[in-house]
Amino acid sequence: MIKQKKLLALISLFIGFLVFFSVLLLKEIWIPPSAEAHKEPHTPQQLKAFQDQFMAMVIEGDKLFHGGGSVKLSKTGMACAMCHPYASDTHPHEFPKYQEQMGKFATLRDMINWCIEKPNEGEKIDPESDAMKALEAYIYWSNKGSVLDPGRH
Ligand code: HEC
Repeated sequence: MIKQKKLLALISLFIGFLVFFSVLLLKEIWIPPSAEAHKEPHTPQQLKAFQDQFMAMVIEGDKLFHGGGSVKLSKTGMACAMCHPYASDTHPHEFPKYQEQMGKFATLRDMINWCIEKPNEGEKIDPESDAMKALEAYIYWSNKGSVLDPGRH
């Protein structure tokens, strides 16, 4: 009788371990590592560093938008801000969308380059450049709170 009980206890222990390790294994298989990234909450120092970098881009974008900054975006003497004061009518929340004047489906960066080339008669900038990212940062920051409405006209 006692022997049987011992055997039963051993079997349950074995099954217990089996279930435990299966769950561990399944978790590894089912949850891709990327889904578990950033599990650790950011420290206040990290958050401040992120925010500082964001605001540095916004400030550079502000300069570019007003005709300053490191890259020349206009050959007419007109700065973005003269037609779009405080980034008005730039509608970042509506992109991507079909743009009639380009005859194509466009992103915000495409439209920034369109304005550099057409009204500003300048030279298009690299869509991956820091200047483009800065303009994008300034335009988004200026339109904070706008509700995303991609495709809208
Ligand atoms: C001379 C005036 C003028 C200047 C300068 C100008 N734009 Fe524009 N911009 C326009 C006009 C007009 C439109 C509207 C085009 C349309 O949607 O038909 C426009 C549209 C845009 C849009 C898209 C808005 C939308 O919803 O389609 C963005 C973004 C934009 N401009 C960014 C810029 C940036 C960045 C600069 C500076 C590099 C700039 N613009 C300079 C006149 C200007």
